[in-house]
Amino acid sequence: MIEELLPASVVAVEAYGDEEPANTALYPEEEAVVARAVDKRRREFAVVRSCARRAMDKLGVPPQPILPGERGAPTWPAGLTGSMTHCAGYCAAALVRAADLASLGIDAEPHQTLPDGVLSAVALPAEAERLRRLSGDHPGIHWDRLLFSAKESVYKAWFPLTGKWLDFTEADIEIFADPGEQRGGGLRARLLVPGPWVGDRRLDRFEGRWTVQRGLVATAVSVPHT
Ligand SMILES: CC(C)(COP(=O)(O)OP(=O)(O)OC[C@H]1O[C@@H](n2cnc3c(N)ncnc32)[C@H](O)[C@@H]1OP(=O)(O)O)[C@@H](O)C(=O)NCCC(=O)NCCS
Repeated sequence: MIEELLPASVVAVEAYGDEEPANTALYPEEEAVVARAVDKRRREFAVVRSCARRAMDKLGVPPQPILPGERGAPTWPAGLTGSMTHCAGYCAAALVRAADLASLGIDAEPHQTLPDGVLSAVALPAEAERLRRLSGDHPGIHWDRLLFSAKESVYKAWFPLTGKWLDFTEADIEIFADPGEQRGGGLRARLLVPGPWVGDRRLDRFEGRWTVQRGLVATAVSVPHT
Protein backbone atom coordinates (compact mmCIF):
# COMPACT_ATOMS: atom_id res chain seq x y z
CA MET A 1 0.00 0.00 0.00
CA ILE A 2 2.69 2.53 1.00
CA GLU A 3 5.05 1.65 -1.85
CA GLU A 4 2.50 2.79 -4.43
CA LEU A 5 2.59 6.27 -2.86
CA LEU A 6 6.36 6.66 -3.21
CA PRO A 7 8.90 6.93 -6.05
CA ALA A 8 10.19 3.66 -7.52
CA SER A 9 13.57 4.07 -5.78
CA VAL A 10 11.93 3.55 -2.36
CA VAL A 11 11.70 0.08 -0.84
CA ALA A 12 8.73 -0.37 1.51
CA VAL A 13 7.95 -3.39 3.67
CA GLU A 14 4.63 -3.74 5.50
CA ALA A 15 3.01 -6.07 8.04
CA TYR A 16 -0.79 -6.27 8.42
CA GLY A 17 -2.92 -7.34 11.35
CA ASP A 18 -1.50 -9.97 13.63
CA GLU A 19 0.89 -11.18 10.92
CA GLU A 20 4.23 -11.74 12.66
CA PRO A 21 7.17 -11.15 10.31
CA ALA A 22 9.91 -13.79 10.32
CA ASN A 23 12.41 -12.07 12.57
CA THR A 24 11.19 -9.59 15.16
CA ALA A 25 14.12 -10.13 17.53
CA LEU A 26 15.52 -6.85 18.83
CA TYR A 27 19.16 -5.92 19.35
CA PRO A 28 20.05 -5.40 23.04
CA GLU A 29 20.30 -1.63 22.58
CA GLU A 30 16.80 -1.59 21.01
CA GLU A 31 15.50 -3.88 23.75
CA ALA A 32 16.72 -1.30 26.27
CA VAL A 33 14.56 1.41 24.61
CA VAL A 34 11.32 -0.54 25.16
CA ALA A 35 12.28 -2.37 28.33
CA ARG A 36 9.54 -0.66 30.32
CA ALA A 37 7.04 -0.14 27.49
CA VAL A 38 3.58 -1.73 27.34
CA ASP A 39 3.13 -4.85 25.18
CA LYS A 40 1.49 -2.98 22.26
CA ARG A 41 4.42 -0.54 22.02
CA ARG A 42 6.99 -3.36 22.30
CA ARG A 43 5.28 -5.38 19.57
CA GLU A 44 4.91 -2.46 17.15
CA PHE A 45 8.49 -1.32 17.85
CA ALA A 46 9.78 -4.82 17.02
CA VAL A 47 7.52 -5.48 14.00
CA VAL A 48 8.27 -2.16 12.34
CA ARG A 49 12.02 -2.75 12.84
CA SER A 50 11.71 -6.16 11.29
CA CYS A 51 10.06 -4.45 8.28
CA ALA A 52 12.86 -1.85 8.16
CA ARG A 53 15.58 -4.51 8.29
CA ARG A 54 13.97 -6.38 5.40
CA ALA A 55 13.92 -3.10 3.45
CA MET A 56 17.63 -2.56 4.31
CA ASP A 57 18.39 -6.04 3.07
CA LYS A 58 16.63 -5.32 -0.24
CA LEU A 59 18.85 -2.23 -0.55
CA GLY A 60 21.96 -4.31 0.10
CA VAL A 61 22.60 -2.94 3.60
CA PRO A 62 23.31 -5.44 6.41
CA PRO A 63 20.71 -5.55 9.21
CA GLN A 64 21.52 -3.33 12.17
CA PRO A 65 19.86 -1.63 15.16
CA ILE A 66 17.49 1.25 14.49
CA LEU A 67 17.54 3.48 17.54
CA PRO A 68 15.37 6.51 18.18
CA GLY A 69 17.57 9.59 17.86
CA GLU A 70 16.83 13.26 18.37
CA ARG A 71 13.11 13.84 19.20
CA GLY A 72 12.39 10.18 18.39
CA ALA A 73 13.50 10.29 14.75
CA PRO A 74 14.97 6.95 13.66
CA THR A 75 18.71 6.82 13.13
CA TRP A 76 19.44 5.22 9.74
CA PRO A 77 22.67 3.64 8.55
CA ALA A 78 24.94 5.95 6.55
CA GLY A 79 23.74 6.25 2.96
CA LEU A 80 20.07 5.52 3.73
CA THR A 81 17.10 7.59 4.76
CA GLY A 82 13.56 6.54 5.51
CA SER A 83 10.50 6.59 7.68
CA MET A 84 8.38 4.22 9.79
CA THR A 85 4.77 4.11 10.97
CA HIS A 86 2.68 1.80 13.13
CA CYS A 87 -0.96 1.75 14.16
CA ALA A 88 -3.47 -0.92 15.17
CA GLY A 89 -3.23 -3.63 12.51
CA TYR A 90 -0.46 -2.13 10.41
CA CYS A 91 3.29 -1.45 10.46
CA ALA A 92 5.40 -0.12 7.60
CA ALA A 93 8.94 1.00 6.92
CA ALA A 94 10.05 2.82 3.76
CA LEU A 95 13.75 3.21 3.00
CA VAL A 96 15.70 4.71 0.14
CA ARG A 97 19.31 5.44 -0.73
CA ALA A 98 20.09 8.98 0.41
CA ALA A 99 21.44 9.65 -3.09
CA ASP A 100 17.96 9.00 -4.52
CA LEU A 101 15.79 11.16 -2.21
CA ALA A 102 16.53 14.01 0.21
CA SER A 103 13.89 12.84 2.70
CA LEU A 104 10.64 10.97 3.08
CA GLY A 105 7.82 10.57 5.58
CA ILE A 106 5.12 7.93 5.85
CA ASP A 107 2.11 7.63 8.13
CA ALA A 108 -0.83 5.24 8.51
CA GLU A 109 -3.92 5.63 10.66
CA PRO A 110 -7.18 3.74 11.11
CA HIS A 111 -9.72 5.04 8.58
CA GLN A 112 -11.98 6.54 11.23
CA THR A 113 -13.04 10.02 12.11
CA LEU A 114 -10.68 11.83 14.52
CA PRO A 115 -11.59 11.99 18.21
CA ASP A 116 -13.55 15.10 19.22
CA GLY A 117 -11.46 18.24 19.46
CA VAL A 118 -8.46 17.01 17.46
CA LEU A 119 -9.36 18.53 14.10
CA SER A 120 -9.86 22.01 15.54
CA ALA A 121 -6.46 21.71 17.25
CA VAL A 122 -4.53 20.70 14.12
CA ALA A 123 -6.34 22.25 11.13
CA LEU A 124 -5.97 25.79 9.82
CA PRO A 125 -9.28 27.52 8.98
CA ALA A 126 -8.51 27.18 5.23
CA GLU A 127 -7.82 23.45 5.65
CA ALA A 128 -11.06 22.95 7.60
CA GLU A 129 -12.98 24.74 4.85
CA ARG A 130 -11.41 22.54 2.14
CA LEU A 131 -12.24 19.41 4.18
CA ARG A 132 -15.89 20.51 4.32
CA ARG A 133 -15.92 20.73 0.52
CA LEU A 134 -14.17 17.36 0.09
CA SER A 135 -16.62 15.72 2.53
CA GLY A 136 -19.53 17.05 0.44
CA ASP A 137 -18.01 15.73 -2.82
CA HIS A 138 -16.69 12.40 -1.45
CA PRO A 139 -18.56 11.46 1.73
CA GLY A 140 -16.99 7.98 1.98
CA ILE A 141 -13.60 9.29 3.14
CA HIS A 142 -12.69 10.46 6.65
CA TRP A 143 -10.95 13.60 5.38
CA ASP A 144 -10.18 14.80 8.92
CA ARG A 145 -8.09 11.67 9.57
CA LEU A 146 -6.46 12.00 6.17
CA LEU A 147 -5.40 15.59 6.92
CA PHE A 148 -3.99 14.48 10.27
CA SER A 149 -2.01 11.67 8.64
CA ALA A 150 -0.71 14.05 5.97
CA LYS A 151 0.55 16.38 8.72
CA GLU A 152 2.39 13.50 10.41
CA SER A 153 4.02 12.51 7.10
CA VAL A 154 5.04 16.11 6.48
CA TYR A 155 6.65 16.29 9.93
CA LYS A 156 8.50 12.99 9.46
CA ALA A 157 9.95 14.25 6.15
CA TRP A 158 10.65 17.73 7.58
CA PHE A 159 12.44 16.74 10.76
CA PRO A 160 15.51 14.95 9.29
CA LEU A 161 16.10 17.96 7.01
CA THR A 162 15.85 20.60 9.74
CA GLY A 163 16.20 19.00 13.17
CA LYS A 164 13.36 21.31 14.21
CA TRP A 165 9.79 21.04 15.46
CA LEU A 166 7.06 21.92 12.94
CA ASP A 167 3.73 22.84 14.42
CA PHE A 168 0.46 21.53 12.98
CA THR A 169 -0.39 25.11 12.01
CA GLU A 170 2.90 25.71 10.18
CA ALA A 171 1.98 23.79 7.03
CA ASP A 172 -1.14 24.40 4.96
CA ILE A 173 -2.10 21.12 3.33
CA GLU A 174 -4.24 20.72 0.23
CA ILE A 175 -5.58 17.28 -0.56
CA PHE A 176 -6.68 16.21 -4.04
CA ALA A 177 -8.70 13.18 -5.08
CA ASP A 178 -7.56 11.48 -8.30
CA PRO A 179 -10.20 11.96 -11.04
CA GLY A 180 -12.72 9.15 -11.05
CA GLU A 181 -10.91 7.54 -8.11
CA GLN A 182 -12.15 8.51 -4.69
CA ARG A 183 -9.80 6.30 -2.69
CA GLY A 184 -6.51 7.96 -3.54
CA GLY A 185 -4.84 11.12 -4.75
CA GLY A 186 -2.19 13.73 -4.12
CA LEU A 187 -1.35 16.24 -1.42
CA ARG A 188 0.63 19.45 -1.26
CA ALA A 189 1.93 21.05 1.94
CA ARG A 190 2.76 24.75 1.72
CA LEU A 191 5.28 25.52 4.45
CA LEU A 192 4.30 28.64 6.40
CA VAL A 193 7.76 28.94 8.00
CA PRO A 194 11.11 29.08 6.17
CA GLY A 195 11.64 25.67 4.61
CA PRO A 196 14.76 23.50 4.58
CA TRP A 197 17.58 23.93 2.11
CA VAL A 198 17.93 20.98 -0.21
CA GLY A 199 20.96 21.44 -2.45
CA ASP A 200 20.91 25.05 -3.59
CA ARG A 201 17.15 25.55 -3.09
CA ARG A 202 15.12 26.51 -0.07
CA LEU A 203 11.92 24.47 -0.27
CA ASP A 204 8.56 26.14 0.31
CA ARG A 205 6.40 23.04 -0.17
CA PHE A 206 6.37 19.27 0.09
CA GLU A 207 4.35 16.93 -2.08
CA GLY A 208 2.93 13.50 -1.48
CA ARG A 209 0.25 10.93 -2.14
CA TRP A 210 -2.52 9.26 -0.12
CA THR A 211 -4.67 6.18 -0.26
CA VAL A 212 -7.55 4.64 1.67
CA GLN A 213 -7.47 0.84 1.67
CA ARG A 214 -8.16 -2.08 3.99
CA GLY A 215 -9.63 0.12 6.74
CA LEU A 216 -6.54 2.36 6.79
CA VAL A 217 -5.57 5.84 5.63
CA ALA A 218 -1.96 6.04 4.47
CA THR A 219 0.01 9.09 3.37
CA ALA A 220 3.54 9.54 2.10
CA VAL A 221 5.65 12.62 1.41
CA SER A 222 8.82 12.41 -0.62
CA VAL A 223 11.37 15.20 -0.99
CA PRO A 224 13.49 14.92 -4.14
CA HIS A 225 16.99 16.33 -4.42
CA THR A 226 16.92 19.66 -6.23
C1 LIG B 1 6.47 11.91 15.78
C2 LIG B 1 5.06 11.74 15.24
C3 LIG B 1 4.98 12.37 13.84
C4 LIG B 1 4.78 10.23 15.11
O1 LIG B 1 3.55 9.98 14.48
P1 LIG B 1 2.45 8.99 15.09
O2 LIG B 1 1.28 8.99 14.17
O3 LIG B 1 2.22 9.36 16.53
O4 LIG B 1 3.13 7.56 15.14
P2 LIG B 1 3.56 6.58 13.94
O5 LIG B 1 3.41 5.21 14.45
O6 LIG B 1 2.91 6.90 12.65
O7 LIG B 1 5.12 6.88 13.81
C5 LIG B 1 6.00 6.55 14.83
C6 LIG B 1 7.37 6.58 14.24
O8 LIG B 1 7.66 7.90 13.78
C7 LIG B 1 9.07 8.04 13.76
N1 LIG B 1 9.41 9.32 14.36
C8 LIG B 1 9.27 9.68 15.66
N2 LIG B 1 9.74 10.94 15.83
C9 LIG B 1 10.16 11.37 14.61
C10 LIG B 1 10.75 12.57 14.16
N3 LIG B 1 11.01 13.60 14.96
N4 LIG B 1 11.08 12.67 12.85
C11 LIG B 1 10.85 11.64 11.99
N5 LIG B 1 10.29 10.45 12.38
C12 LIG B 1 9.95 10.34 13.67
C13 LIG B 1 9.66 6.87 14.56
O9 LIG B 1 10.21 5.95 13.65
C14 LIG B 1 8.45 6.29 15.24
O10 LIG B 1 8.51 4.88 15.42
P3 LIG B 1 9.45 4.27 16.58
O11 LIG B 1 9.20 5.06 17.81
O12 LIG B 1 9.02 2.85 16.68
O13 LIG B 1 10.87 4.42 16.07
C15 LIG B 1 3.98 12.39 16.16
O14 LIG B 1 3.89 11.69 17.38
C16 LIG B 1 4.26 13.84 16.50
O15 LIG B 1 5.04 14.17 17.39
N6 LIG B 1 3.61 14.78 15.77
C17 LIG B 1 3.69 16.18 16.10
C18 LIG B 1 4.42 16.97 15.03
C19 LIG B 1 3.60 17.09 13.79
O16 LIG B 1 3.01 16.13 13.34
N7 LIG B 1 3.55 18.29 13.18
C20 LIG B 1 2.74 18.50 12.03
C21 LIG B 1 3.46 19.39 11.06
S1 LIG B 1 2.37 19.90 9.74
